[in-house]
Amino acid sequence: MSKTITGFSKLSKEEKIDWLVTTFFEKSSSAVHILKQYWNTNQQLQQLHDEFTENTISNYYLPFGVAPNFSINGKNYAIPMAIEESSVIAAASNAAKFWLNRGGFKAEVLDTQKVGQVHFTFQGNAEILKSFFSEVKPKLLASVAALTKNMEKRGGGVLDISLVNKTDALQGYYQLHCTFETVDSMGANFINSCLEQFAETFKTEASSYTAFNEELPHIVMSILSNYVPNCIVRAEVSCPVEELSDSKIPDGKEFAEKFIQAINIAEIEPFRAVTHNKGIMNGIDAVVLATGNDFRAVEASIHAYASKDGQYSSLTHASIDNGIFKFWMEVPLALGTVGGLTSLHPLVKLALQLLGSPNAKELMKIVAVAGLAQNFAAIKSLTTTGIQQGHMKMHLMNILNQFNATADEKTAMVKHFTTNTVSHSAVVDALETYRS
Ligand code: MEV
Repeated sequence: MSKTITGFSKLSKEEKIDWLVTTFFEKSSSAVHILKQYWNTNQQLQQLHDEFTENTISNYYLPFGVAPNFSINGKNYAIPMAIEESSVIAAASNAAKFWLNRGGFKAEVLDTQKVGQVHFTFQGNAEILKSFFSEVKPKLLASVAALTKNMEKRGGGVLDISLVNKTDALQGYYQLHCTFETVDSMGANFINSCLEQFAETFKTEASSYTAFNEELPHIVMSILSNYVPNCIVRAEVSCPVEELSDSKIPDGKEFAEKFIQAINIAEIEPFRAVTHNKGIMNGIDAVVLATGNDFRAVEASIHAYASKDGQYSSLTHASIDNGIFKFWMEVPLALGTVGGLTSLHPLVKLALQLLGSPNAKELMKIVAVAGLAQNFAAIKSLTTTGIQQGHMKMHLMNILNQFNATADEKTAMVKHFTTNTVSHSAVVDALETYRS
């Protein structure tokens, strides 16, 4: 039986499921049941989700949780997080609570510039191209007036266009490197529309520019860059080293020194840096997802930024100066609080309301703080108890669910494992003993 199909997207949702179940599940009714189990009973809400993307056949749940007790620039937040990894929200909450009594988090947006490029080739004289660009630049800007009108009303628009000669790296390759301010929107559609218009105007103007002498520029493509090294936010915590002590940290100074060693390792060792930054992304992605933003764009940009000095390195840094422990991070974040899912998805709208309806700059600060908090919690565990203690404790429910534990069994196991170390085999043994 053929496992390919033409016109799949034209089928109704029921027909799509029918075809999939017949073709890949031997008409199993349990496959249909699983898919439909996740449909929302509110048909209007379900249709909204169906229409987010093509070929929707069901919904894919992630837990939507909250990490309370964050203090950021003196304001308190309960931060919404969408994530499946058991220990992430607990870790964020612990870090929030830890810093709540030690001055809280400070965050600052350093810049908000977005980027897009028109990539083209040109085989003629570079000086002639430069002269053409100077002449055509005002026309390029004028040609997007209709597109930028609303954005300008909100305080944004095109910041600049420059001609970049990249022929050293790739034969005949040039760019129009364009910068934008997109205020509270992530700005992808705005930027791409402007770029495509720039490309069109550039091409039209070039065709009548006599100095080119038949050697015309050829547009390859126009697209925003998700790398936004000038759309940057800084998050920070600090306190006197002795104030770092708590039930798990008998000596604040010793802890601070070991913490800094862990950061130094991630700064120079890419194998460690990747896991270190992955932990930061646990926090960042979870808030980016909960607030309806594009986590793939954020991931791509942040990892590129982590390599900006030529080697992949830690995003966070730490120091002790005059007895003050300081821990900070600067990351690029292109986020929106208007447009896209932010005005469509009911849970996203709720998440933004929970945060006090932030603008994009405020959301940048919140997201960066979630990342910094996550890294603080990870390094604190790694350099004190080890990561598994907390991680396995949070993972206990997953193991119990794998073995279909009843509510009674769960209560008994949670009690048992408050004083015993959780491991997969220890849970299996304890559950078997309890059951017998
Ligand atoms: C696990 O998801 C994240 C950590 O591995 C991060 C780290 O090692 O820093 C705990």
